Amino acid sequence: MSSSYMSWRSSATNRRPTQPPDDTPKNPGSIHPDLNQDPNPKPALHFLAFVLIVFLGLLQFLPASHFRDPADPLRNWVPFNSQPSSPPTTVKLAVDEDDGMIHIVSWMQCLDLKVLAVFTNSTLSSSRYPDLLHFHFFTPQGDEDKVSFFKLKVLFPHSNIDLHGQDEVEEAIKRASSGVEYASLNLEEIAPFIIPSVHQSLRKFIYVSPNLILMGRIEELTGMDLTAHVVAAAEDCSKRLNTYVNSDVLDAIQRSDSKPWISVTPYEKDACMPDLSLLLIDGKKLEEFLEIVLWWSKVLNLRNSERNPAIALALYNRYLKLSDSWLVKEPADITEKSMIIHYDGPKIVCSEFGNDNVSRSPHGNSWLKYLPSMSNQILGS
Ligand SMILES: *[C@@H]1O[C@H](CO)[C@@H](O)[C@H](O)[C@H]1NC(C)=O
Ligand SMILES: *[C@@H]1O[C@H](CO)[C@@H](O)[C@H](O)[C@H]1NC(C)=O
Repeated sequence: MSSSYMSWRSSATNRRPTQPPDDTPKNPGSIHPDLNQDPNPKPALHFLAFVLIVFLGLLQFLPASHFRDPADPLRNWVPFNSQPSSPPTTVKLAVDEDDGMIHIVSWMQCLDLKVLAVFTNSTLSSSRYPDLLHFHFFTPQGDEDKVSFFKLKVLFPHSNIDLHGQDEVEEAIKRASSGVEYASLNLEEIAPFIIPSVHQSLRKFIYVSPNLILMGRIEELTGMDLTAHVVAAAEDCSKRLNTYVNSDVLDAIQRSDSKPWISVTPYEKDACMPDLSLLLIDGKKLEEFLEIVLWWSKVLNLRNSERNPAIALALYNRYLKLSDSWLVKEPADITEKSMIIHYDGPKIVCSEFGNDNVSRSPHGNSWLKYLPSMSNQILGS
């Protein structure tokens, strides 16, 4: 019901008890002196009327449920929730201040459309405002791969999806690293930090590794203020710094080198590693980032088989920690609060020789829930 109707009722009810005192002083019994005796209402009715007035008065404090569009000539009442795609303006939603969209970026070294479809559907179906999500997938063929693009568009006709190539980003990394440490860098890990410098339109975005299933609302990440931080990420305490880098070497570097990005205090040996599979990135603050990562890779002299801690060191004390619910879990280990899990379906893994067809069989069935119903016809089984 409209609140203005209620307020009319309540003000009318409020006025009524004040009328008798208005009348009585004016005619103090001159016309019908025999009727002058005050009626004697029951105290229970008094109380009931009072409660009713208070109740009707309180109704005005309920949030407005309907509104009238000033442009509508009939001035019809429209419920607020009939427009799910336009959130109330008080919700701080936009990741990108320019276009109000939430940009979601992912990088896939070997194209696997089934994984992308599950990721996309899980994100869309957990989201409150799916119309505001804009997916950017960096794939080997990128926008030249029209077939993959149209397959995704058939599965998700109302979504915003762009495919981008990977060459420009790879070139930028190769150029900066002069080829030497390039092999020690995991492109899926470093790419999100380089994308803003190559694609000027992507400044603020959420980076998500595609091998994930989202169960929480991605919008919950977007109201976050990064302030002085470069990125936001969850902290993974099952992985500690000293498993990836020798603490003595790190101490020696910390004492003897004076680069501005080195911590002034000694590094905590068992510091938790940032989980790089979900990041909130503000490209404006990333200027030196690649240089720092390359510098760490160089001084630590890492081989390419190991997981490179250079990104974790570059982020040391410089990232905003996301709540634990955004830490990626295995489907078997989830708690009520878990927002995000590993993809557990079949997937294509890049082989060493560049063949894209080493497939890994499923180890769970969480992915089936988000597999679009048409995916067998469209993507092949
Ligand atoms: C990949 O595909 C090629 C040709 O399509 C085939 O010869 C090769 O055995 C496949 N490799 C794997 C690991 O499936
Ligand atoms: C995506 O997943 C939801 C929830 O599991 C499912 O109901 C829906 O049909 C899927 N979307 C598409 C496009 O198939």
